[in-house]
Amino acid sequence: MSYINEMKLNFKALSENEAFARVAVASFCANKIKDIESISDIKTAVSEAVTNAIVHGYEGKNGDVEINCTINDEKVIIEIIDYGVGIADIDKARQPFFTTKPEVERSGMGFTVMEGFMDEISVISNPEDGTKITLIKLIGKGA
Ligand SMILES: Nc1ncnc2c1ncn2[C@@H]1O[C@H](COP(=O)(O)OP(=O)(O)OP(=O)(O)O)[C@@H](O)[C@H]1O
Ligand SMILES: [Mg+2]
Repeated sequence: MSYINEMKLNFKALSENEAFARVAVASFCANKIKDIESISDIKTAVSEAVTNAIVHGYEGKNGDVEINCTINDEKVIIEIIDYGVGIADIDKARQPFFTTKPEVERSGMGFTVMEGFMDEISVISNPEDGTKITLIKLIGKGA
């Protein structure tokens, strides 16, 4: 029998929920993933994506952030979704050091960090619609 487990989170776009989301996803994954380095990588990537949803997606205004997490024998798939302003140019946004908020000490390294710590990342975004980040980490034999 192959293993599959799923969970969903839904929370307000408040900065204090970044730590909650990171720990909740890590804790969910830790049932299946026993190597600490992978769990730490997942925490780092989720933290970047959730921070982006709060800071850029909603720009500090009210909003909801969703996380869908699926884990099986081969990989964990984590979707981080906001319904905020969206990203005008995704290719540009993903480049190292690109930021639209240099004045608040953003370094533009969030996407680069997510790419470095995960095996796959995809970005779907439309201005006015919001953004969905999908993070994938291979586990088990494929890792
Ligand atoms: N969820 C989002 N909604 C709208 N825009 C986003 C979102 N995520 C990222 N962006 C855009 O992509 C840019 C790059 O994101 P990235 O995380 O790489 O850097 P940053 O957030 O600006 O800086 P850092 O993550 O280093 O603090 C952001 O400056 C922002 O313009
Ligand atoms: Mg960022």
